[in-house]
Order: sequence, then structure tokens, then C-alpha cells
Amino acid sequence: MKYNFDEINNRKVNFSAKYDELKPKFGRDDLIPMWIADMDFKTAKPIIDAIINRAEQGIFGYVSRPDSYFESACEWYKKKYGWNLKSEWMAHSHGVIPGMVMMIKEFTKPKDKIIIQSPVYNEFFDIVEDHDRELVVNPLKIVNGRYEMDYDDLEQKAKAGAKMFFLCNPHNPVGRVWTKEELIKLGDICLKYGIQVIADEIHCELVYGNNKYTPFASISEEFFENSITCISPSKTFNLAGLQSSILIFGDKQQLETYNHLLQIQDIKRNNCFSLVATEAAYRYGEEWLKQLLEYLKGNLDFVNDYIKLNIPKLKTYTPEGTYFAWIDCKELEMSAKELEDFMNNEVKVAFGLWYGKESEGYVRMNVACPRSVVEQALIRLKTAIDKL
Ligand SMILES: Cc1ncc(COP(=O)(O)O)c(C=O)c1O
Repeated sequence: MKYNFDEINNRKVNFSAKYDELKPKFGRDDLIPMWIADMDFKTAKPIIDAIINRAEQGIFGYVSRPDSYFESACEWYKKKYGWNLKSEWMAHSHGVIPGMVMMIKEFTKPKDKIIIQSPVYNEFFDIVEDHDRELVVNPLKIVNGRYEMDYDDLEQKAKAGAKMFFLCNPHNPVGRVWTKEELIKLGDICLKYGIQVIADEIHCELVYGNNKYTPFASISEEFFENSITCISPSKTFNLAGLQSSILIFGDKQQLETYNHLLQIQDIKRNNCFSLVATEAAYRYGEEWLKQLLEYLKGNLDFVNDYIKLNIPKLKTYTPEGTYFAWIDCKELEMSAKELEDFMNNEVKVAFGLWYGKESEGYVRMNVACPRSVVEQALIRLKTAIDKL
């Protein structure tokens, strides 16, 4: 079936955080919302059908998780990425971030160091600091217009002692899809200094062209044993509101501890809709995903071309993955606060703006919306910059 990603869907009837939280977050609600990471597209028909079928049963009691649930993820990863996952390594979580919070609380102690690579997804900063762990930043560096990991800096910081490393693969917000070689260098440093890798791979299906997603834990037995991987169809298939993800543990003891925590907090079950939606995504989502990726790539190219042609003061990076355009606004010569005020009150687009010190002067534009909306946002951006 042919999907129409140009269709404008009314998310105002959708209790959508992206729209309904504009006022509290940005101080006004007349902005084009391009901040939080979800999509304005309807999900794949097989997923909608699975949810409708479940809803029509009319009974929403507690659910048990059939074996086919984790198996569907195993089959998807095997088919798409050649990773021989096993259901017995998997555990449920109400989200990647809730899962990572449990890892912090259970597998590290207060004041332990956790390394992140800024600019990076804002929750990585918050969940470390909110739990009284020490944040250690290994900044990404820009080499020939492309973000890379700084291994020398990482080694220095690893040597000083750290408990965990949060990997974002593909990387939000800079759009890098880390190569196998890059991941090996990183994984070797973490092994050498006894640092566990938490691989957040939630954006893994959103990869363009010849770029190739490599599951970190699939690289070697040692990397697998030294890692926990977080996956979910929630970004790729726009299911974040169903609140479920899958954690893949390389350490059996940690898996048992984690499952015990779910048990004693009574949070071990999926809700009835995430159960059927996840399985439908992994089993029947491929056709929709193929069309989605083509459309998203078209949007990302559109942003690049438009900016090059019409807003020469801005610079874009070509994302290898994710649905974010990462836009360098440093030539506007504004402080972080000035840039935020300008984007909110003059441009009137709600961009993502909070990814650490290294993100100052940049904005993240979520292009997972109809191209006409992307165009409107770019016109607003150009008009406001022309007036400066
Ligand atoms: C890299 C990354 N990890 C995790 C999340 C959030 O995942 P969840 O809603 O499952 O907690 C996001 C959402 O934007 C993200 O970009």
C-alpha cells in the first residue's frame, strides 16, 4: 500500500505533548512544533489494525506477554542487522529512559561517574544528575564538517574512573550512525577501564543511504557481556505514547536483578496495546518503514538545499540517521539565550535547543512532518533572519 506522508493530521485532538506543551515549554503556543522526537505521521496500517482489533475485543484486563513478543524483535534484528538475539536476554521497560534510570539506580552508586558524548539527547544529562551521579562529558569533535568521537579525551576520562558510558547510536542530535570501526575503538576503551556501555539504539532503523547501523553488542561476545542495549519501535513507528521498550542484557546477573526490580514494583507487564503494536511493527512494519525513510530523506535534503540556497548564514550537517536536521546558527552571533528568544519569538518555530554546552549556537529541527510544514518553518526562519 502507498502511504501519504504529505497528509496533514490534526494533532490538536491527539493530546499531543508536541503541541499541547508548547505554552509551558516555550512561553507561547503559536509556534510550529519541531522539538520533541515524535512524528506527525500516522503509523503503519498493520499496527493500526492490530490496535483496533485489540480494542474491539473490549476487554482490557491485565495481559501476559506471549513468547512471540520478544521473538518478533529477535527476528527483526536477525533479518535486518544479522544480530542473533535471544529472547532470554530481553526484558521489558516502560521506556528507554525509565530503563536507563533503573540501571543508574541499581548498577551504579551515588557519585559514580557516567560518561556521555555531548551534544547529546538532553535526558542523558538529567537522569545522571538527578540521581546524584557525576556527569563526565566526552565532547564530540567536528572533523571536516562531520562529528566524530574524541578517543584521546575519552581515554583520559575513562582512566580517571567511570562506571558507565551512555552510547547514542545513531546519535541524537547530530545524526551520526557510528561505524563498526568507531564502535570497536569505543568499546575497547570501555572494556580496558571496566566501564559498562549502555547502548541507546532507539533510532536504529532511521538510517539513510549507504550508512549502516551496527548494534554495539553484536560486535563481539566481550562487548555484549559489557553492555545493555535499549531498543524500541517507538521512534521508528511513532509509538512513543504506548510506552514500551526492550532492554537486552549481556550480563545474566544484571538481567535477573532488573527483572526482580520490575517484579517488586509491579511494573513487569506491557499495556495491552503496546503488546500487539510492537509485534505488528516488527513483523509487518517493513513496507511502511521503507516509504517513511524515503520521505524523511526527502525532507532532510529539502532542508539542506533550502538553507544552502536561501539562508547562507546557517549551516546544516547531512544526517546519516534520525529525523533531525542539525543546524549551525553560530554566524548569527547570538548567545544561547538570545538564540532561544529569537527562535521562539521572531522565527516562531519550536526547535530543540538543549543538548549540552557543545550544542550552544545550534538548533535541532524535527522533520518528521509533512514537507509543507517543513517548508513553512524554513520560510519563517529565512524571513526572521533577513530582518536582522
Ligand atoms: C536517544 C533517545 N533515547 C531515548 C528517548 C526516549 O525514549 P523513551 O520514550 O522510550 O524513554 C529518545 C526520545 O527522544 C531519544 O531520542
